[in-house]
Amino acid sequence: MNIRLAVPVLLSLFPLAGSAEIRYVAARKLWHLQAGPVSYVIGVNEKNELQSMYWGKRLWRDDDLQAAHSNPEWASFDNSGNTTPQEYPGWGGGRYIEPCLKVTLPDGVRDLVLHYVSYTIDGNTLRIELKDIGYDLGVTLRYQVFPETGVIRKSALIRNGTRQPLTLESAQSGAWNLPRGEGYRLTYLSGRWAGEWQINREPVHPGMKVIESRRGSTSHQANPWFAIDEGQADEGHGRVWFGALGWSGNWRLSIEQTAHQQVRVTGGFNPFDFSYPLAPGQTLETPPFYAGFTDGGFGEASRILHRFERTEIMPGGVSARPRPVLYNSWEATEFAVNEEGQKALAAKAAKLGVERFVMDDGWFGARNNDHAGLGDWTVNRQKFPHGLGPLIDYVNSLGMDFGLWVEPEMVNPDSNLYRQHPDWAMHFPDRPRTEARNQLVLNMARDDVKNYIFEALDRLLVENPKIAFLKWDMNRNFSEPGWPEAPVAQQKELWVAYTRNVYDIMDRLRRKHPKLEIESCSGGGGRVDLGILSRTDEVWTSDNTDAFDRLRIQEGFSYAYTPKAMMAWVTDVPNFNGRSTPLQYRFLVAMMGSLGIGGNLNKWTDNDMALATRMVELYKSIRTTVQQGKLYRLFSPGAGTFSANEYVSEDGRQAVLFAFRSAQDFGYPPPVVRLSGLDGNAVYRVKTIDRKLAGSLDTVSGDFLMNRGIDLRLGGDFDSTLITFERVP
Ligand code: DGJ
Repeated sequence: MNIRLAVPVLLSLFPLAGSAEIRYVAARKLWHLQAGPVSYVIGVNEKNELQSMYWGKRLWRDDDLQAAHSNPEWASFDNSGNTTPQEYPGWGGGRYIEPCLKVTLPDGVRDLVLHYVSYTIDGNTLRIELKDIGYDLGVTLRYQVFPETGVIRKSALIRNGTRQPLTLESAQSGAWNLPRGEGYRLTYLSGRWAGEWQINREPVHPGMKVIESRRGSTSHQANPWFAIDEGQADEGHGRVWFGALGWSGNWRLSIEQTAHQQVRVTGGFNPFDFSYPLAPGQTLETPPFYAGFTDGGFGEASRILHRFERTEIMPGGVSARPRPVLYNSWEATEFAVNEEGQKALAAKAAKLGVERFVMDDGWFGARNNDHAGLGDWTVNRQKFPHGLGPLIDYVNSLGMDFGLWVEPEMVNPDSNLYRQHPDWAMHFPDRPRTEARNQLVLNMARDDVKNYIFEALDRLLVENPKIAFLKWDMNRNFSEPGWPEAPVAQQKELWVAYTRNVYDIMDRLRRKHPKLEIESCSGGGGRVDLGILSRTDEVWTSDNTDAFDRLRIQEGFSYAYTPKAMMAWVTDVPNFNGRSTPLQYRFLVAMMGSLGIGGNLNKWTDNDMALATRMVELYKSIRTTVQQGKLYRLFSPGAGTFSANEYVSEDGRQAVLFAFRSAQDFGYPPPVVRLSGLDGNAVYRVKTIDRKLAGSLDTVSGDFLMNRGIDLRLGGDFDSTLITFERVP
């Protein structure tokens, strides 16, 4: 075989992680985007439209790719704009499919037909210029490919090149077209407070399914992530197309099956109550929309996203250190914080091996309960007579760093800030202001409000330079989203400007305080998406800390987001739902993400403290594998009384198995557990924490573990175990 033939053949036989290329095939006016195991092909058709041509497993031969050609019309009711898959259709020219861009022009024209103009390729980034057929309204589509994972990022920059202001009524990041066909199945995440991350799976039918937030932030109720398979994929097999938006404001994903067997996912700013004026020369950039493909099932889809988030999205990149073990005071003390009480908890936390002590709500203003204080970010001198300094020093002297809770976007009407600036809260003039948890939302779209909040947080960090971490909370969604000070035509910009300004504060704080870490919290997991994750180091998964509920919450979370970002605390029992589970079970559940402790340590017995100390030590020996390894969901907690997760380190040297049983069934032992992702030819040393492995396996081959599997001795009623497998050199 000559070298020119050998290269493509070899490339088709071996995994291609790490390689990416964008090629323009001039003869057929198409672009072939290759990234890791994925190919994505776009072309310009004979009508000068940008047509979607292929998205799936990597192709190696450009010669196989035909030039784009539009599909014929279907009678007089569906012109070819409806039968041809397009990358970024405007609303116009008789299109009824979901548009990517909808606009009203100054002369009242509401018709937008985008045609191809030009392109540039710059490394892993392709930019394609589109322009309306009549007006100087331009769109730059930006595609970026990520070699390691095959993820592709899309966004659009919309530019008003006319001499008149115009109004955007829908601005989407892009549309992902799947191979034409039927029988697809959608997986998505839904929930509510304390019940986030529920997995839903349903067939894709003709018509449109919308998942969205109209709440001003990402929301507990739905998450901007999707996965679509051909109806039969499972954890280890099957084609899965998946994607996620990087936006923490109002968002929407529409999953549409057209009358012509075309499934497409369009996503970006939620068009609901959306109206964005663009002055001449002005632009609007949409949020990034990321998507990937695998033929390795839902498990591989998650592992691709986890790696992508750790290496490309989260601050610090792949070499960032694992998350520290954290203690948080909230469930122990709620608002009753003071220097003495926090020091007592800190001393106990340090004995357990905790590395970061976080004081939650209650330390500022007149904050003795949730009725007052939000907005007044100064230390409460009754609770901390000498400021935060003595507590921080004490925490540091115990070998831990110090973190603090804030909720910067909110104000209680009973606060000095609100008394001075009642207009800073979102509102419509002379209309009631709906309170939730006795608080209102500050209009962060206003630059004066944004700057005030930045300065308040910056002052806190300057005065207390040893604050290493902020837990940034947001405990309600928008209501009365008014901005009466802005010209009427611009008032709806609030939806976009609010989120941009929150991002801006976080970015500025991080730039000015480079060692600062931030957790995104919104009454639990109400603000988790790839936008917030690009400027925070972790997220609070849910206010539901009941370990049994957590198994399903964490499973849903893991479909879209990395265990590294997933904060999980061990708390006291009975939990808020009345359920009690053993301390080991609670620890092992929390150890499947970034471990935290949130119980009232003053009430823990010596035995509890001893077990907790052992667990924290054990966690430190496996956390790199858990946080930065590959997750295999072996048994789903949603499918029965037994569940198990396995994590394999990136270098393959360590695997960790977590297993849980909530109840026994008719006296049967739990199912045989076959592991995944090991080297069949390698031998592993087995270590159990509590001898719940049947037989006496000291060392065992990867082939045995993955094919014969192991038997566990787990009873019922919240039994649990952890087994580690270290590769024998
Ligand atoms: C909601 C968070 O999710 C909790 O962990 C806690 O920080 C409270 N807010 C404090 O008000």
